[in-house]
Amino acid sequence: MIGEGVADWAGRSLILDRAGGQSGRNFASIIFRGDLLMKAIDLLKKDHDTVKKMFAAFEKMGSHAQKDRLAQAEEICEELRIHAAIEEEIFYPAVKSVRDKEAKFDVEEALEEHKQMKSAMEDALKDEGQEPAFAAKMKVLKENVEHHAGEEEKEIFKVARKLGDDRLEELGQQLQERKEALQAEDSGNHRQARKKP
Ligand SMILES: [Fe+2]
Ligand SMILES: [Fe+2]
Repeated sequence: MIGEGVADWAGRSLILDRAGGQSGRNFASIIFRGDLLMKAIDLLKKDHDTVKKMFAAFEKMGSHAQKDRLAQAEEICEELRIHAAIEEEIFYPAVKSVRDKEAKFDVEEALEEHKQMKSAMEDALKDEGQEPAFAAKMKVLKENVEHHAGEEEKEIFKVARKLGDDRLEELGQQLQERKEALQAEDSGNHRQARKKP
């Protein structure tokens, strides 16, 4: 039952957590959370799938829907920016701590790809939806993101699994909390931007 969630009467989930007592015995404590604990790699994979769907929706919009396409591109870039930030702040340092010959190289490579992705996003959004350059830039961004996410899932997640389930759940919780904080910051910034004359 440890680490498993069950729904309580209020529809929240109860997570039974393991904590070591002074005697070294484990006992179960109950943590109330709005959702079940998710392992870091599952949370990141879910983000990858979300952004792939967002790109697919973008591509379905005709070039006549310029305003909607630009709004969708902005949402994709916001999602990617937050995803990259939580990986850089929380996930990659944890992966780097694993004793694995390839881990440090894989993380450095991923960081380089993040840098390229950020400048490609900046470049695409500068175009204000001007076709056909805008569509081309978004297509290249999508291909780069798919390549990056694929390598991450294959190489980096493989190393991350060595951290073990408990640590991956702990990291998952940290990623989720940081993600929510960055999303709240972003929606605050948007509100401010809308207020400006
Ligand atoms: Fe990444
Ligand atoms: Fe990722």
